[in-house]
Amino acid sequence: MKVLSTSLLMLGVLVAGHAQAANNCTIALKGDDAMKFDQKQITVSASCPTITIQLAHTGKLPASAMGHNVVIAATKDVDAIGRDGIKAGLPNNYVNKADTRVIAHTKVIGGGEKATATFPGKKLTAGGDYTFFCSFPGHSMLMKGKLVVTK
Ligand code: CO
Repeated sequence: MKVLSTSLLMLGVLVAGHAQAANNCTIALKGDDAMKFDQKQITVSASCPTITIQLAHTGKLPASAMGHNVVIAATKDVDAIGRDGIKAGLPNNYVNKADTRVIAHTKVIGGGEKATATFPGKKLTAGGDYTFFCSFPGHSMLMKGKLVVTK
């Protein structure tokens, strides 16, 4: 019986360890020349010390014509961030540098390029209403999805 309870205890430790490792700390997206992201919903954990955004542009068009970035924000702020981003222009990656509503963003890239950015999970609140989107002018109509945040 002692052996059995020890085994169960170890199993519990393994399961707990696995659950920890399963916390998703990466937002991986592919954007293409058809103005689309490959995913509509991504789940991350607010307990991640660091969340990494990984963007790959799988198309061929240049950033000036079909640029993509990934911006993370509260859903209610998406439209306003997009409007201010257009004013900021491509040299600023279509993001107003002073915009505190932007939780995180990558630079704008063109076909064949990749970009990454990181931010602390504590900038997100579990259960909050968040959206990932591309702030290139006109793209957020199609290039957006729901960022689900768990504890
Ligand atoms: Co785009």
